[in-house]
Amino acid sequence: MIRVLVIGSGAREHAITHALCNSGASVSCFASNLNPGIMALADNLEIGDLNSPDRVTDYAAQQRIDLAVIGPEAPLAAGVADALRTESIPTVGPGHKLAQIETSKAFARNLLTRNGIPGCPRYRTFDTLDGVADWLGELGDGYVVKYDGLAGGKGVKVAGDHLHSHAEALNYCRELVTKDGCFVVEEKLIGEEFSLMSFCDGDTLHHMPAVQDHKRALEGDCGPNTGGMGSYSDANYTLPFLEHEDIKAAHTINEATAAALYKECGEPYRGFLYGGFIATTSGPKLIEYNARLGDPEALNVLEILQSDFVAICHGMATETLASIGVDFRPAATVCKYIVPEGYGAKPRRDCTLIIDEEQLTASDASLYYAAVNQPSGGALETTSSRAVAVVGSGVSLAVAEAQCEAGLAAVSGRGLHVRHDIATPQLLEQRVAHMRGLRSGHKTPAVMAA
Ligand code: AMP
Ligand code: GLY
Repeated sequence: MIRVLVIGSGAREHAITHALCNSGASVSCFASNLNPGIMALADNLEIGDLNSPDRVTDYAAQQRIDLAVIGPEAPLAAGVADALRTESIPTVGPGHKLAQIETSKAFARNLLTRNGIPGCPRYRTFDTLDGVADWLGELGDGYVVKYDGLAGGKGVKVAGDHLHSHAEALNYCRELVTKDGCFVVEEKLIGEEFSLMSFCDGDTLHHMPAVQDHKRALEGDCGPNTGGMGSYSDANYTLPFLEHEDIKAAHTINEATAAALYKECGEPYRGFLYGGFIATTSGPKLIEYNARLGDPEALNVLEILQSDFVAICHGMATETLASIGVDFRPAATVCKYIVPEGYGAKPRRDCTLIIDEEQLTASDASLYYAAVNQPSGGALETTSSRAVAVVGSGVSLAVAEAQCEAGLAAVSGRGLHVRHDIATPQLLEQRVAHMRGLRSGHKTPAVMAA
């Protein structure tokens, strides 16, 4: 039996552990919290500092690990993948140099530009205020300011949303300079966002179905940005507002990026490559790259993965992905997170969760645990972050959404919040109408810049 180390302990890692166990692996988890779902599946779980290469490699040696899968981005940035490979452990997750595709927005933009990869908005990088006002003047009302490093989703400020004048934008840039930071100022893109993730071994990429995440905390896309409140994918592997050409273009961008990374960093990108795109009237544009699976997007794609996940991970880690078939069930999926009220701004700290296991089983939905605590014998308690995710699947988005809601009905408790509007016919129609409106000639900054 292959012994696999999973690093991380959120809902994404619960889903990864589930998929690995389904493929017959024995899983050991190096975790930051006692995830009850992972504890029920894994043979071993150790709490420790995920970002310590020494701690992780010691645990891997102790567990006689054959293959490692890294979930979150921080251990990638800390060089945990490099350390595992130094110990000859095949690893899913790029080395820290390659992980710059996520950890530095300037690196990602410059890589695409140097290599003539399409999909980059107009941008400039800065580490002082010199030239910022002039560049803002060129961009006019449509600009975005991005801190260059990892900022847990809080480093991006969008015109009209967080910034309401060039003076406000300059103040934010000044703050970043004072923090000793580099930053990117780029064109604001108008369209619908989607995630296109690929399994990658450096040369070969197998693409996953497109997924749409919902970052805003409240229904109707209101409230603060969050880690993601829920997501959906459709049975035909695309999304209702996308055209076939958009998917093809996103595939091409991921493939060209993996090749450019190999060429410039001198080592293959072995891991999940996650392109965050926005469909515009001039094709998909890249918002950001992540060097890992998305959370919640991982829950959508792993729900319908038909092929052996251990074989895919082994293929990525050992550069043999070309010989591995990757198939997904032609089913739609809908994922909704249960979070503490106030999540994204001021989360409640006194929430509890009760899961009716019988009702959950009867619904046929899947449930994944994220950031919860369960004092021995006590009720599940939330933390300040996402608590549990429920995933439904079915022949259509309507069936998958109904199954997800049936699963959610099995969870009760105090102080909880769910975005029930995700993947409802009304919200899907709004997305489609938005893109239809843009495509029918409504001028957008992206079009005017093209
Ligand atoms: P990021 O951390 O780069 O994914 O940005 C967070 C969010 O900011 C994205 O999900 C988008 O909603 C928004 N965003 C980032 N870059 C742009 C852009 N160039 N145009 C419009 N929105 C953007
Ligand atoms: N779904 C957003 C992320 O994983 O970063």
